[in-house]
Amino acid sequence: MAPPARITNPFYFGDLALDEAFTDRKDELKSLETDILNGQNVALIAPRRYGKSSLVRRASLNLAAKGVLVAEVDLMKAPTKERLASHLARAIHDDIASPIFKAKEAALRLFDSLRVKPVITVDPAHGSYSFTFIPTHTDEDIDATLERLLELPAQLAAEQKAKVALYFDEFQEITDIDPNLPALMRAVFQEQPDVAHVYAGSKRDMMSRLFNDKNEAFYRSAKVMEIGAIPSDLFASFVKERFDATEKGVSEAAIEGLLEVTRGHPYATQELAYALWDEVPSGFSATVSDLERALDVVLRSENARFTLLWDNLSRAQRQLLQAVALESGHIQSARYLLRHGLPSASTIQKAARALEKAELIGKRPDGATVIVEPFLVEWVARYAA
Ligand SMILES: Nc1ncnc2c1ncn2[C@@H]1O[C@H](COP(=O)(O)OP(=O)(O)OP(=O)(O)O)[C@@H](O)[C@H]1O
Ligand SMILES: [Mg+2]
Repeated sequence: MAPPARITNPFYFGDLALDEAFTDRKDELKSLETDILNGQNVALIAPRRYGKSSLVRRASLNLAAKGVLVAEVDLMKAPTKERLASHLARAIHDDIASPIFKAKEAALRLFDSLRVKPVITVDPAHGSYSFTFIPTHTDEDIDATLERLLELPAQLAAEQKAKVALYFDEFQEITDIDPNLPALMRAVFQEQPDVAHVYAGSKRDMMSRLFNDKNEAFYRSAKVMEIGAIPSDLFASFVKERFDATEKGVSEAAIEGLLEVTRGHPYATQELAYALWDEVPSGFSATVSDLERALDVVLRSENARFTLLWDNLSRAQRQLLQAVALESGHIQSARYLLRHGLPSASTIQKAARALEKAELIGKRPDGATVIVEPFLVEWVARYAA
């Protein structure tokens, strides 16, 4: 007998795509896992919501099965050096020290060597520890403390013959925490050839400057890996399988239309597929007209965010977005400007730089300018044109 069909929505958009929600990325996973095993540093760059965190999490889980310990710190949660120290201490404790040392005391004793001692509290409900660095010290003291924390994973790896990696998510935040942090980190990390450091971040501009500009501390210290959208054919089978695992189906034409809108953008594809599944009654298959309604639902839910964004753009930026929503192309060319009635090349260049910095537009590998968020393309075409 077939297992009972699922009645909850099989699509997921939001935080990490785990387990069944995760699809494809086979080549990226293979290369990331090999690099981490080899102690090769990696800078993972992609626009927001392309699946960076999900990819590294999946790689970490696969590597954990091979005994590799990956400590993870999210820089978005660490706005100050003290908070960074707290998160580092916790990651080292939970992800590296605890699996190595059977005795709780041994894992905690590691932090005795820090210049600024954290206040350690235990949550009795979960048995989890937190480490708080109270800001009553000099800048030098907290720097020395961070330096020591950054050394610990490599030290543990060497002493315990373990394979470890250190992973910083939202790495584009690093200079906002403190402009001197990259230099401090780099100085410590270059002594650690066996420990892989993974830096995941959006804001392509800034991430690639950090690793590719010779005036930057991280210059050539990591292999730069950019991830793109998920190929349409792979996403198509994922969407179909996920529908088929429930009591609803989906037509080929609806899947094709869906991917035409989302172009394989991971978050957008899951969001639109979620709305599409919701539109279809039990026992039916999603059609192209269901897709139309699903897209309306999504655009309505994004309307407030897009309106706010639109209100904050200059006139030239709006004109450029309108043009790109109609036609992705080489926006600097005289013919493109003429075709879309755009102002002078220099005005457009300035607008393009601002939109690129805000991650609203980006370049395809063939050099054509595109709007990064698929739903913004639809929204501009419908409501702002
Ligand atoms: N491999 C994947 N397969 C299917 N869906 C995915 C995949 N990766 C990401 N997604 C979709 O994208 C969403 C966001 O993923 P994730 O948080 O990993 O992206 P991110 O690039 O880290 O985003 P941010 O820039 O906001 O940190 C997930 O909730 C899921 O809907
Ligand atoms: Mg992320």
